[in-house]
Amino acid sequence: MISIKNEQEIKLMKEAGRINYLTHQLLKKNIRPGITTKELDQIAYDFITSQGCTPSFLNYEGYPASICTSINDEVVHGIPSNRKLVNGDIISIDIGVIYKGYHSDSAATYPVGTVTKEKEYLMEHTKQALYEGLKEVKDGAKLGNVSSKIEEYAHRHKLGVVEELVGHGVGKHLHEKPDIPNYGKYNTGIVLKEGMTLAIEPMLNLGTKRIYLLDDDWTIITQDGKPSAHFEHTVLVTKEGYIILTGEESNG
Ligand code: MF3
Ligand code: CO
Repeated sequence: MISIKNEQEIKLMKEAGRINYLTHQLLKKNIRPGITTKELDQIAYDFITSQGCTPSFLNYEGYPASICTSINDEVVHGIPSNRKLVNGDIISIDIGVIYKGYHSDSAATYPVGTVTKEKEYLMEHTKQALYEGLKEVKDGAKLGNVSSKIEEYAHRHKLGVVEELVGHGVGKHLHEKPDIPNYGKYNTGIVLKEGMTLAIEPMLNLGTKRIYLLDDDWTIITQDGKPSAHFEHTVLVTKEGYIILTGEESNG
């Protein structure tokens, strides 16, 4: 069963999304060569809790921090540490926020100082892949349309599509049904309904789609060592399309 959120639930998810967005904005301002990922994690923790919210990743299946910080060839689930950001890095920051029992989930990849054209290309097209998928979201549309558009856009731009990790429904739980792969066939899959809330999150690689898990049992990195980017929004399905709950749109 895929949950349909009522008006009251949507209100709470909007607030969880708003705080998620503001946390991203705050971290973005703090990203610079020399800062450690642990310092970013602390800033996120302090802000989220100051807003009456909880960072949902903290202790999730034993995860030891409030946010994920994945640098360069790290795809997702990088654990904040004493590693300092250096000029030319890209860092994917993934944030989960709970407000009164409802979750938001959002990720973005940011440059540290000046980065190569290749990394700019990767970030720009991973973000656009998310938006290409979102264009397909609306009541009555099939979920496979979202997946296939993301894949198609990624392949057109010669980017590797990570297959082992997927987007998901989100609400009372961080991970709800349905799974939302970043690849698939148009006109297949479940039918989207007004009131569903989804976390859509392409993870695209400059090189191979192949990944592996580091010994810390969390960090996922690319097999060829080339960089990876990740963009994710929590969205509400509407009659006409969708509303981004973790973007500026909901913070105007
Ligand atoms: N944001 C991730 C997702 O969408 C969850 C992070 S896993 C955690 O699935 F353990 F770090 F919480
Ligand atoms: Co997610």
